Amino acid sequence: MDHDSSKATPSSDLIDRVHHEHVHLRRLFEDLSGTFERIGAEETGQERKRELIESASEDMEVALDDMLEHFNQEEEIFFVEIEERFPELAGRIASLVKSHELMGQRTRWLHEQLGKPADEISRNLTVIQDVVQSMARMIEEHTEEETALFDDVLTKIPADERRVLLEKMREI
Ligand SMILES: [Fe+2]
Ligand SMILES: [Fe+2]
Repeated sequence: MDHDSSKATPSSDLIDRVHHEHVHLRRLFEDLSGTFERIGAEETGQERKRELIESASEDMEVALDDMLEHFNQEEEIFFVEIEERFPELAGRIASLVKSHELMGQRTRWLHEQLGKPADEISRNLTVIQDVVQSMARMIEEHTEEETALFDDVLTKIPADERRVLLEKMREI
């Protein structure tokens, strides 16, 4: 997730970075959802299915890594800072952390499934497709909740303090 940091301008700021990561994660799962539709399509040949499963497995690994890194940064930096400054938001933060755990579990499960032999994957395809779709939806809902929280909170933190936070985040 460092492809944009080289382009970072002085105006690049914590909120933009978080938004960018959210867009990236949503796109990953939307793409995965599309790949699984193609894997499940009747007109897709066996050989092509195998290729798609292989690329889905690689994409799932990227999604898992990027997602866990993103969650980790949020939990260790943002959520801690937000809760210190605005203790009344503890309930909203706890619910975001809970959905991080659930999404982490589901993505790990998906990654595990994709490591299985192709015919086993084909047999479980409907369940796998459902979970991928539910992940895409969960990420969307989670992102909306989180964006609302960040918008409420981070815009109230002075810009120079946001920059300090960004530096901390890069150190993780
Ligand atoms: Fe997030
Ligand atoms: Fe989050």
